[in-house]
Amino acid sequence: MTYQPNPQRYEEMHYRRCGNSGLVLSAISLGLWHNFGHVDDFANARKLIQTAFNLGITHFDLANNYGPPPGSAEETFGKILSQDFGGFLRDELIISTKAGYRMWPGPYGEWGSRKYLITSLDQSLKRMGLDYVDIFYHHRPDPETPLEESMMALHDCVKSGKALYVGISNYPAEEARKAIQMLKELGTPCLIHQPKYSLFERWVEDGLLDVLEQTGTGCIPYSPLAQGLLTDRYLKGIPNDSRVAKGVGFLTENHLTSERLDKINKLNALAQKRNTTLAQMALAWVLKDSRITTVLIGASRSEQITDAVNSLHHLHFENEELSTIEHILKS
Ligand SMILES: NC(=O)c1ccc[n+]([C@@H]2O[C@H](COP(=O)([O-])OP(=O)(O)OC[C@H]3O[C@@H](n4cnc5c(N)ncnc54)[C@H](OP(=O)(O)O)[C@@H]3O)[C@@H](O)[C@H]2O)c1
Repeated sequence: MTYQPNPQRYEEMHYRRCGNSGLVLSAISLGLWHNFGHVDDFANARKLIQTAFNLGITHFDLANNYGPPPGSAEETFGKILSQDFGGFLRDELIISTKAGYRMWPGPYGEWGSRKYLITSLDQSLKRMGLDYVDIFYHHRPDPETPLEESMMALHDCVKSGKALYVGISNYPAEEARKAIQMLKELGTPCLIHQPKYSLFERWVEDGLLDVLEQTGTGCIPYSPLAQGLLTDRYLKGIPNDSRVAKGVGFLTENHLTSERLDKINKLNALAQKRNTTLAQMALAWVLKDSRITTVLIGASRSEQITDAVNSLHHLHFENEELSTIEHILKS
């Protein structure tokens, strides 16, 4: 069946400016880390992308190594793009990819050398069948390669037309500041930083968000639902189709300690009082900070994407609710 996008797709979604750039991003973005590999169901993957786009999500986030096997999420996405988004719809999408983690054997298949970053982007473009990506990221800082080399490689990806913007991911505050300054001097401003941030993971509050605000850089927190912990997924055990049960990533049963489950239950009770799901409250909590451009979710079913988008109707928090959240997290 030919895909006919929802003509009303831009009416409900919020679009937020990415730092002080000219680009706005949908307040919810969809990541393809899980559920888009060759091991996953293609029809479901296609439904996830279509559902997201129908709801006004314009930003889709990939990396060279997403799968499994590594590279296969980009191939799946490329197939969906050519089937459903060919022609003019490409211009309605913001597609990102990254390089930094191990992608191929030998000394040139990971980290931050010019050799790795530029050849990896070429491979990603081939897998997705694209001429360019909208955002190309350095996926993690490299302690061995001079920062100048990695940033120059990002800058050259833009100069060669293979990326429109660049970003950094997992950079601590001071390294991020240096990278952002270098990119500025090269004439390719750093569009965005992609750190892990959720109710359960708050390191960005100790300096990184300030750096991003001071430098006019956008912020796209990943795993805002702590990979599914901050949802109703594990309230009654471990469902067979959940990320923990599938055992394909970093989320394991060990994360479901009784202490953590107690916090999840208490947060869930508060979310119910607010007439939202726990996932919606967790996303709204991240989005309440104006320094955050968009939250980068994952999904295994299309209903989860709809649930996330509905969080945009419940962004307001009373001070008392925020104190209750802090109390639960510290208890
Ligand atoms: N830069 C980096 O180093 C880095 C690292 C990790 C991720 N990322 C990016 O961030 C994206 C998102 O990461 P993530 O998948 O960990 O994000 P997440 O949104 O924290 O977790 C997604 C998982 O939560 C569950 N879920 C989502 N919505 C739900 C809902 N409404 N109700 C119940 N359960 C729900 C699903 O689990 P089930 O599968 O169990 O249904 C889903 O797979 C990735 O795809 C990737 O693009 C980047």
